[in-house]
Amino acid sequence: MQSPVEARGSPARFGVTRGSDSQPPAPVGPLARLFADARLRIAETDPRAVEPGAGLFPAEAQSIANAVDSRRRQFTAGRLLARRAWQELGVPPSPLVSDEQRVPVWPTGVIGSITHTHGWCGAVVARASELGALGADVEARSALDPELWQRVCRPEERDFLGRHEQGLAGLLAKGVFSAKESIYKALYPTVRVFLDFQAMHIEMEPGTFGSWAWQAELQVPWGAYRAGERFGPGRLGIDSEWIVSGIALGPERLRPQR
Ligand SMILES: CC(C)(COP(=O)(O)OP(=O)(O)OC[C@H]1O[C@@H](n2cnc3c(N)ncnc32)[C@H](O)[C@@H]1OP(=O)(O)O)[C@@H](O)C(=O)NCCC(=O)NCCS
Repeated sequence: MQSPVEARGSPARFGVTRGSDSQPPAPVGPLARLFADARLRIAETDPRAVEPGAGLFPAEAQSIANAVDSRRRQFTAGRLLARRAWQELGVPPSPLVSDEQRVPVWPTGVIGSITHTHGWCGAVVARASELGALGADVEARSALDPELWQRVCRPEERDFLGRHEQGLAGLLAKGVFSAKESIYKALYPTVRVFLDFQAMHIEMEPGTFGSWAWQAELQVPWGAYRAGERFGPGRLGIDSEWIVSGIALGPERLRPQR
């Protein structure tokens, strides 16, 4: 049987299988297309191709023993992908457990981020000597529910969205949501304080077709970070299936709690 995660292509990228015999594997997945950074190792796959619990270390399996099948499947995919990716850095396999705040405890010398949604899952990792923090998020390509715009997007973000035609505006609103999830996932492990969606402003800059660069500007003090601090550039990709965002921050951007 073919492994759900298949190495192929440049060392920074993994090929993927889609769990379907009718569809040939894509050369790279949406996360690998998003990040063009040789410091990263990326593995991604359709979690529906993964057997819930198979290949987990006992401590990992224990942590999701009582979860529903879909959650066990996504968790399993994330763990297998993360391990597959960090082994490309020469780090041996070991359990990846999460702490009580659901933050993965990466092996010494490794940082990373895991994301999953129905139909896609990815892990992005790097050496801690090269990067300080990573955040990644994959969402299905669909408009952000209009009822969520007010909660997720700041007034200036809604102004920006209003300058686009309705279809693209809905997708970009989901992109703003995704970018906020990415920056939060990158920094929460050092800050350890909840941050509301209104507390970060995402500024989008169009790139080549289907890709955007973004800067995140903090609107309130957050842990050791001051209001007005900016993080970026992050990336956003919108393809025919996925809205995907990510950010890689240098070690100098980390400011552990005082
Ligand atoms: C943390 C959060 C962003 C994750 O959302 P999600 O919908 O579960 O996202 P994904 O599926 O893409 O990612 C889940 C993975 O992220 C990681 N993760 C979970 N919580 C995390 C946290 N607080 N910090 C960093 N990583 C976290 C885990 O690896 C998790 O997968 P696992 O449980 O299988 O290990 C979300 O639960 C949350 O709390 N959001 C509210 C706060 C927020 O986003 N504010 C935005 C301010 S700008």
